[in-house]
Amino acid sequence: MKRIFITGATRGLGLEMVRQYAQQEHVHIFATYRDEHHAHALQSLADQYAPHIDLLPLDVADEQSIQHIIHHIENKTNGLDILINNAAINPKDDTQSIGNLSMDGFLQVLRVNTVAPALIVQTLLPLLKKGNQPRIINISSDMGSIEHRSYGGYHAYCTSKAALNMISRGLAADLAPYHIIVISLDPGWVQTDMGGQNAPLTPHESIAGMIKVVDGLTMRQSGSYINYRGKTLPW
Ligand SMILES: NC(=O)c1ccc[n+]([C@@H]2O[C@H](COP(=O)([O-])OP(=O)(O)OC[C@H]3O[C@@H](n4cnc5c(N)ncnc54)[C@H](OP(=O)(O)O)[C@@H]3O)[C@@H](O)[C@H]2O)c1
Repeated sequence: MKRIFITGATRGLGLEMVRQYAQQEHVHIFATYRDEHHAHALQSLADQYAPHIDLLPLDVADEQSIQHIIHHIENKTNGLDILINNAAINPKDDTQSIGNLSMDGFLQVLRVNTVAPALIVQTLLPLLKKGNQPRIINISSDMGSIEHRSYGGYHAYCTSKAALNMISRGLAADLAPYHIIVISLDPGWVQTDMGGQNAPLTPHESIAGMIKVVDGLTMRQSGSYINYRGKTLPW
């Protein structure tokens, strides 16, 4: 049985990841939502694949909410095999351009995209240590690559993903003694609310690629920054 935990599963890539993992055999998925009134698509999937999907409330910006998730999972199982830190924000308004930056706006992006994934790993570590070939997947972005940063704007988002990459790398070292793999994974540019409709990839294509990469990971790849096709990205 492969036990998978996915944050931000109400729409976009998180929802598609739940859908595709649910089609595999011998999986149990813990999928999180922030607001049950906006989780209808996820609820339909949970109904369709019952009892293989459990839904959990989680606002990753709220430390207490993060601390509660372990109790939900422990009611069902004593270990976790895959943790996918997927939830993120990339404000579309002008608040990320120079001239409009604010302390609160910038910090909110860091809180959700960078600090929350680290705290979620910290909280779920006891379960990951008891997992079968456990792996932590921090969903990053090509926009977190410093080497590829030849464009401006999106300051909070790009910074948050570059910092998330740093966390992945440090955690890979922290958790190597427990044989827990940690990577930063770029889904490509995908047609979601965040990616917009001009993106070249569908969620189905991106997630199919990412699942193949995740399922094929070896300890040797821990600490790497790769995309949905398994290609290594420059930091
Ligand atoms: N789409 C792309 O082209 C692209 C490219 C590179 C990287 N990525 C990365 O891929 C991941 C998924 O992106 P996406 O395109 O699927 O984005 P999306 O369509 O905007 O979906 C974001 C998800 O994150 C959840 N979320 C946001 N803030 C949250 C919070 N405070 N607590 C809990 N959940 C929260 C949302 O929940 P609600 O429904 O409750 O808002 C939603 O389920 C992100 O890490 C993103 O940075 C995406």
